[in-house]
Amino acid sequence: MASKPRQKILILDFGAQYNQLIARRVRDSKVYSEIVPYNIDAAKIKKAKPKGLILSGGPSSVRLKNSPFPDPKVFKLGIPILGICYGMQLMGYMLDGVVKSTRKKEFGKTELWVDQADPLFKGLNPNLICWMSHGDKIASLPPGFETYAHTLHSKIASIGDPSRKLYGVQFHPEVFHTPWGIDLIKNFLYDVCECKPSWTPANFIDLAISDIKRMVGNKKVICGLSGGVDSSVTATLVHRAVGKQLTCIYVDHGFMRRGETEQVRETFENHFKMNLVCVDASERFFKKLAGVTDPERKRKIIGEEFIRVFEEEAGKLGKIGFLAQGTLYPDVIESESHTGATNVKIKSHHNVGGLPEKMRLKLIEPLRYIFKDEVRHVAGQVELPPHIVYRQPFPGPGLAIRIIGDVTPKRVKILQEADAIIIEEIFKAGLSREVWQYFGVLPLIRSVGVMGDERTYEYPIVVRAVTSEDAMTCDWARLPHKVLERISNRVVNEVKGINRCVFDITSKPPGTIEWE
Ligand code: XMP
Repeated sequence: MASKPRQKILILDFGAQYNQLIARRVRDSKVYSEIVPYNIDAAKIKKAKPKGLILSGGPSSVRLKNSPFPDPKVFKLGIPILGICYGMQLMGYMLDGVVKSTRKKEFGKTELWVDQADPLFKGLNPNLICWMSHGDKIASLPPGFETYAHTLHSKIASIGDPSRKLYGVQFHPEVFHTPWGIDLIKNFLYDVCECKPSWTPANFIDLAISDIKRMVGNKKVICGLSGGVDSSVTATLVHRAVGKQLTCIYVDHGFMRRGETEQVRETFENHFKMNLVCVDASERFFKKLAGVTDPERKRKIIGEEFIRVFEEEAGKLGKIGFLAQGTLYPDVIESESHTGATNVKIKSHHNVGGLPEKMRLKLIEPLRYIFKDEVRHVAGQVELPPHIVYRQPFPGPGLAIRIIGDVTPKRVKILQEADAIIIEEIFKAGLSREVWQYFGVLPLIRSVGVMGDERTYEYPIVVRAVTSEDAMTCDWARLPHKVLERISNRVVNEVKGINRCVFDITSKPPGTIEWE
């Protein structure tokens, strides 16, 4: 179950790396959007009653036989369509125009001249800079179409047939480098599709709560709460819908950051008055991990043990009807890759993902169709405290994958203390919003130092701080030297067991954000 508003735009996914951005830009324009497979049946589209369709870009060429083509009937549904890059070429090719290879590929920032403003370029400058990335072009228009814009190498850079409400652009209006692109998208949404800008977090909340109420009836719901923004918002929405029928389970595996468990208790039990089961399972986890140093084995063991503890606690609650989970839209898009792309597994990610199959519970996933920053908006609206709304991502296996080698209570304590100092100093410097993640890593090596005339032989702490948009890639954060200096001084002086501080300056790729 997941809440969806009535008025929506469907984006047919032809495999472009920018597809999530298209969905984002549409939602930034306050219109709900969803990404669907490129070969979705026209009949299915008709049933969904979207106000408009967007055909995304993609790496293929319409001139190749095995390229992805949509159901040809989509052009006959009478629903407005905007084709972007490959999407426009599809429109040109499938409606009897001519598509040819460009002799010169257009890539990157390109100057664009508008030949006719209405409707896509209405209110925009007649001479614009856009972002291009294509090797094919429409060489002659399909019958009924006219040209709206051109560039130096593409005579036809935007097309349209107002009688059928079919439009196309050769460039990418969704990318950051085409800053006015959102205005073009708004022209399509508001003028061509006649959408109203009404998608906001507030109406999402009302919709989600009434859906949850209807679905749950008088049954019981459980929710795995980690203290992160996704599970916190999920729990809060379900709690608003069904109150005490919800029980949240928080498993402390012993690898949480300093003070985290107390904060979760304070917010959900004391403040929101939710039914909360806090399980201190640290002893079990430490036992299972004793002597384990391989990162993947650590992840697997923690994941499996987590499910076991969760199941045991859930079993004590009697008959349960539903499991609430904080699955987000990017996770859904990733796991439903529409063009068959496969990714090499770098790390097994662990959250409560394995639970539903094991427990055979019906799922409630109110955030299934929303993005991370939309979740943060919703979190603010349901009055979660700022430390949860803006909490940095924290991996399911916790500090265990930031401790290289053996994970012992003593080493966890050292890392918790050092990590707390790093977090505090980044906060004090006012950098907590611009740095994506900031934390400490405890390596297995030791080095010699000198403290008050005494020789020391202790662990170093590694400071990891990165900037990122989505954790898929990252750069190391250029922390001011003053902040690094304070962190280094404090960590070495205040944390017993640390005698050196180093700063990780690796981007992703080739590094990853976490060390294991
Ligand atoms: P990497 O280390 O792969 O991390 O660059 C990318 C992002 O994912 C987070 N991460 C996890 N999140 N369960 C999670 O829920 C996990 O097992 C896990 N491992 C890594 C990491 O903190 C970063 O934000």
